[in-house]
Amino acid sequence: MRPCQATRSKTMASTIASITLPVSADRVWQLIGGFNSLPDWLPYIPQSELSEGGRIRTLANPSGDAIVERLEVFNDEERYYSYSILKAPFPSRDYYATLRVKPAGETTSVVEWAGCFAPVGVSDEEVVRLFHGIYTDGLQALAQKIMEVPALGVGTFRLQGEAAFDSVRNALEAGYRVIDTAQIYGNEAEVGAAIAASGVPRSALYLTTKIWIDNLSRDKLIPSLKESLAKLRTDYVDLTLIHWPSPGDAVALKEFMEALAEAREQGLTRQIGISNFTIDLMQQAIEVVGAEAIATNQIELHPYLQNRKVAEFARQNGIHVTSYMTLAYGKVLSDPTILAIAERHQATPAQVVLAWAMRLGYAVIPSSTKRANLESNLKARELNLSDDDMAQIGALDRGERLTSPQGLAPAWD
Ligand SMILES: NC(=O)c1ccc[n+]([C@@H]2O[C@H](COP(=O)([O-])OP(=O)(O)OC[C@H]3O[C@@H](n4cnc5c(N)ncnc54)[C@H](OP(=O)(O)O)[C@@H]3O)[C@@H](O)[C@H]2O)c1
Repeated sequence: MRPCQATRSKTMASTIASITLPVSADRVWQLIGGFNSLPDWLPYIPQSELSEGGRIRTLANPSGDAIVERLEVFNDEERYYSYSILKAPFPSRDYYATLRVKPAGETTSVVEWAGCFAPVGVSDEEVVRLFHGIYTDGLQALAQKIMEVPALGVGTFRLQGEAAFDSVRNALEAGYRVIDTAQIYGNEAEVGAAIAASGVPRSALYLTTKIWIDNLSRDKLIPSLKESLAKLRTDYVDLTLIHWPSPGDAVALKEFMEALAEAREQGLTRQIGISNFTIDLMQQAIEVVGAEAIATNQIELHPYLQNRKVAEFARQNGIHVTSYMTLAYGKVLSDPTILAIAERHQATPAQVVLAWAMRLGYAVIPSSTKRANLESNLKARELNLSDDDMAQIGALDRGERLTSPQGLAPAWD
């Protein structure tokens, strides 16, 4: 695309930045294909306000200067829009930019942000550098946002038959859009049925499943995932995890990580990740597929088992942590420290624990068979704990692991 095409000017400065994302163009466009969605992924533009039927957006930047932009072209089919700037604290005028999402294969896309402008009081190079920096930072923030594992979802471990159906149905009605299941839970069909019955569109959901240890070999992993998809009544999941590393290395880590990456290439899963991986296993997985390909390591993590070494290693490598059994299967909910914090905030103990984990940057997937608990857990997103609350919960760590099945668990860190 020629950025200045629209103005037919040869004298204007111009720049173009692009990023390749391991996500289909449709999904990226879904996220950014609105003129009002830009501030969501530009951290330094916290808010926008639309006017004139969505044709004008006013962005507030942190220094309080308003940027007023006008939508010039919006093409949903070809996935791009162009806008001009009417007012901004930039040393430029005649600003015209286009944001475009292009497919690059079924599950890969390229996002391009191109602009042209006339410098005012600065050199061409300076103004180009300014906008190139803004575009590059913005696209990187977009990449981060699009690959984020959502902060709060609902788990389905132990839920069978009607209990699984009801729990997922209630969760969807309460507003959950993120559901965690696994092949071994034996409830993928009920999860799929509950989603179908809810009427919530597939595109609004973030579904995770996990490959059981019997299906780790190259010839089984993808067929087993296709079976999961059939049960879930979908043609892709958002995230597929290796549930546990292969006991006794029966299947080589390289083999199942490559098969998992292949599943992503085939569009069966948008992201891939691992679960119950130690630092050593994470390191090995990184060597096979690269850290950037691993969306999360889902591990047992709650106030009594804070798993700091594993979480720190993951953080250093840019791998997100998902905390499972955040409530320690209910055990931490009667802890006196948690109860006192809950009382101070007029919150439930579960909300306190979930808010603690989320503030540490972990995703959480608490499960419940009760509608009231599902509803109140969702509200943990609104609870802001103080630094002192965080420190008090931080002090509850006692290395108490609840999940360590014999013959399955690796040598924990
Ligand atoms: N990757 C893995 O190997 C792995 C292992 C374990 C779990 N997981 C995932 O993580 C999810 C969460 O773990 P989990 O289900 O084992 O444990 P959890 O979420 O820590 O605890 C669930 C228990 O807490 C209770 N509970 C939930 N909300 C509550 C509230 N507001 N007040 C009081 N009690 C409440 C539930 O009882 P009620 O039903 O009575 O509300 C249930 O007994 C699982 O469902 C699964 O998806 C993954």
